[in-house]
Amino acid sequence: MNLFEKQSCEFITRHIGPDEHQAKQMLKTIGEPDLDTLVSKTVPPAIRMQHELNLPSAMSEHQYLQHIKEVSMQNKVYKNYIGQGYYDTIIPSVILRNVFENPGWYTQYTPYQAEISQGRLESLLNFQTMVSDLTALPIANASLLDEATAAAEAMTMFFNTLNKQDHITHPKFFVDNEIFPQTKDVLYTRAKPIGIEIVTGDYKKANIDSTYFGAIVQYPNDKGSVEDYRGFINQVHSAGAFVVMATDLLALTLLTPPGELGADCAIGSAQRLGVPLGYGGPHAAFFAAKDDFKRSMPGRIIGVSVDANNNRALRMALQTREQHIKREKATSNICTAQALLANMAAMYAVFHGPDGLKNIAKRVAVLTQTVATAIEEFGFELFSNSYFDTITVKVDDIAPIKEKALRQQINLRYFDNKHIGISIDETTLTEDLYDLINCFENDKNPIAFDIHHDEEPEHIPSKLSRTSSFLTHLVFNTHRSESQMMRYIKSLENKDLSLNTSMITLGSCTMKLNAASEMMPLSWVHWSKMHPFAPADQTKGYKQIVDDLSKYLCEITALDACSLQPNSGAQGEYAGLLTIRDYHEANGDQHRNVILIPISAHGTNPASAVMAGMKVVVVKALENGYIDVNDLKAKAEQHSNELAGIMITYPSTYGVYEETVNEITDIIHNHGGQVYMDGANMNAQVGLTAPGLIGADVCHLNLHKTFAIPHGGGGPGMGPICVKKHLAEYLPSHSSIVNRESSVNTSHDSCLTSHGAVSAAPYGSASILLISYGYIRMLGNVGVKQATEYAILNANYMRARLQGQFEILYTNHNGQCAHEFIVDLRPFKKSAEIEAEDVAKRLMDYGFHAPTMSFPVPGTIMIEPTESEDKAELDRFCDALLGIRQEIRDIEEGKMDKKNNALKNAPHTQLAVVNSEWNKPYTREQAAFPMYYVTQNKFWPSVARVNNTYGDRNLICTCEPIESYMEAEAWSDDR
Ligand SMILES: Cc1ncc(COP(=O)(O)O)c(C=O)c1O
Repeated sequence: MNLFEKQSCEFITRHIGPDEHQAKQMLKTIGEPDLDTLVSKTVPPAIRMQHELNLPSAMSEHQYLQHIKEVSMQNKVYKNYIGQGYYDTIIPSVILRNVFENPGWYTQYTPYQAEISQGRLESLLNFQTMVSDLTALPIANASLLDEATAAAEAMTMFFNTLNKQDHITHPKFFVDNEIFPQTKDVLYTRAKPIGIEIVTGDYKKANIDSTYFGAIVQYPNDKGSVEDYRGFINQVHSAGAFVVMATDLLALTLLTPPGELGADCAIGSAQRLGVPLGYGGPHAAFFAAKDDFKRSMPGRIIGVSVDANNNRALRMALQTREQHIKREKATSNICTAQALLANMAAMYAVFHGPDGLKNIAKRVAVLTQTVATAIEEFGFELFSNSYFDTITVKVDDIAPIKEKALRQQINLRYFDNKHIGISIDETTLTEDLYDLINCFENDKNPIAFDIHHDEEPEHIPSKLSRTSSFLTHLVFNTHRSESQMMRYIKSLENKDLSLNTSMITLGSCTMKLNAASEMMPLSWVHWSKMHPFAPADQTKGYKQIVDDLSKYLCEITALDACSLQPNSGAQGEYAGLLTIRDYHEANGDQHRNVILIPISAHGTNPASAVMAGMKVVVVKALENGYIDVNDLKAKAEQHSNELAGIMITYPSTYGVYEETVNEITDIIHNHGGQVYMDGANMNAQVGLTAPGLIGADVCHLNLHKTFAIPHGGGGPGMGPICVKKHLAEYLPSHSSIVNRESSVNTSHDSCLTSHGAVSAAPYGSASILLISYGYIRMLGNVGVKQATEYAILNANYMRARLQGQFEILYTNHNGQCAHEFIVDLRPFKKSAEIEAEDVAKRLMDYGFHAPTMSFPVPGTIMIEPTESEDKAELDRFCDALLGIRQEIRDIEEGKMDKKNNALKNAPHTQLAVVNSEWNKPYTREQAAFPMYYVTQNKFWPSVARVNNTYGDRNLICTCEPIESYMEAEAWSDDR
């Protein structure tokens, strides 16, 4: 390699942890001569890819940043007044720099290990409090994926509440005409497979009877009108059904909240609270409901509990509701949501406070009424005279206005030939109104408008004016200066262990490097300020990314077409299963609705299958972790006529490449079924094998695992699906794209098919596609394959170091694991009364996040190091586990007490260790600095072990009222 070729490949060495020298040492420990031999003894030869990936060669970071800047310039940043659920916003720089662009926040994992996640848990509690207060509904979750899917979640929650156990007595759901079109699309998609009948109409004329289980209205509605739904809500309630209101948090600072109007649930997007447009996402959707729904609500809920010392501590509440536990009985498949973006929105509310938010809302409303008045003076009529930020203008012909708007680089919303929508947002300045109003000017009168700076919004009906207070809690009334805000954000960040502290070995989650060069472009305006429904000729930069990334993912999976719409892995599963369902239906096989799912599958698999209207049949596993092929054969034969397909994960969730996989896919195909592959473990496939080579017809990819999108503390994510040719026409579509393109394109752009949408935006959380695109471009065809090889090397090195001291479950006949492996901790229960949880908590004292706990096997941990960790970090982690093994041995040998030991008492907080009282049978040093490296870089858990059951029994999922802080102050004064 010459000097310049070396430069182009430099990112490979930035992304992959071990260098050549370290790799040699590691191979020696494993007992293999070289990487090729290790890989060929690990991946079954029958499924090995025989060709090199046809991807571009690697680019240096410098080259890439120049390239992506050039692509970005193909996007045109116009002033957007389109609205429709997406509004430009001013991201406070303190939040942009300290949260959005900060690996301390964006590389966090989902807060399952509560003791080292108190910062983001606190922030998510702020988010829930904000949502609950603004909607006036008592329970809110910590985000959903987008507004449209949140509406669908509310619909299914109501449906399942009134229709128990496969017995549909109330099949109908009323959808008001004036709902955002993208929400309607997703509602239709989600309704069909489970037998919901959607009835659309004008809520004022609706006749809701006992055949209905629910209804949805929008507030303010699609045309911007602020309607009083009280009468309608009463009517729906009298029929025994429920109402969800799709709404806008900024508007609710001025409007009577849904809870006070009687709604059972409120949903919407928190995007306009300081989260960039990003061509559709990622943004946090919110979901709040009456108390009655707390056990059936989708998504994660953060709750207040106590720790072992009775101090306040937060953790995820009511986890038994989730698909991990409930599997096919779950009513939602939500796993990854939008935690990072929920945190940004919460910080926005913390920074502005209730008065600041209200002032923003008032400015928006006053500017809107100024525009409305000026346009009315030109002789135009408005659709409604009650509005907040959006007006709809009736015109004879949109053409001249549209032409003038485009000339001034302004995007308006064109409903049809005679209606134009204008949505004002926080970024709109008084000066902007000249150009905006000018679009409607008759060219005779000069533009003149009056704006009084102390004007009040006058077009919110007085009976819908908000009178109740909100966000009175201390946290929303403290951090006004930038110094305070910066320190508040930092104080929370300090409580959380993320990838900028140490490796996070979360099996199945692939917590690899999220490189700075992959992340940086997300903040650039040519990517961040793009509206998802902007005209196609303004979004050519995004089109290039969508087309190229789709092509690369098809190449990597050896499949033929791709949809980038699903915005999480679970959404990908759902979308993939719908393509299978639609394919069978198109072939006259609508009766094919049985899906086989191995026992080891992730909980989202069966939950998604049920949402897609399928019946789950579980397939057994053998002792060695392989799918029990005999059981599979028997079940495939038994259900041959109704077989829709199988969902498999490869390598399996047990971390092995099953040699029998081709036999499995053949059996399914021979019985007329389709093979769905959960691509969560794609990090063990790229460049070595591929779903298409193994016999998969559909596969979803978790871009937030293999393709470097950060986990953000529980989202964002992206779960695109790739399919074989015969399924391409059944991929999800999106009305905004179909309407804007003249013809259907059969290439990689799946949004042009005629099937339903699964997400609010055509390309899901489009802006984060840039991260995966950057990952592939900077690693290039050679680097992506090397990443897989090193993931296998790292896992096998750790396995080799731990073997003998711990029992490793499920290796192949050569004794190798794939990219992850399972360590069995169950024997220690008997030998030392030590549980997996004790080991997980003790790891915190050693400065590490625990691996995946008890999935897929209870009582175990699953370790996935990824390729990004170097030998020194792998060694520290192995040393920590071996140190813990010695501590267990001390208990086994009676040298340490079974109940009072460093594992049972873990994690140890700073306060516990410096406390003048210390009556433990081990030293303070042993408690907090069990190894030398810890003394060099100590991470302190901020609370002791959290009590989960206390919090579930006493559910509190909003910030405590201000009075509780007064009590705390009195406590500290007394001291
Ligand atoms: C094997 C597997 N399948 C599916 C999922 C679901 O993906 P997501 O969380 O993006 O919905 C996960 C998530 O951890 C997983 O590990």
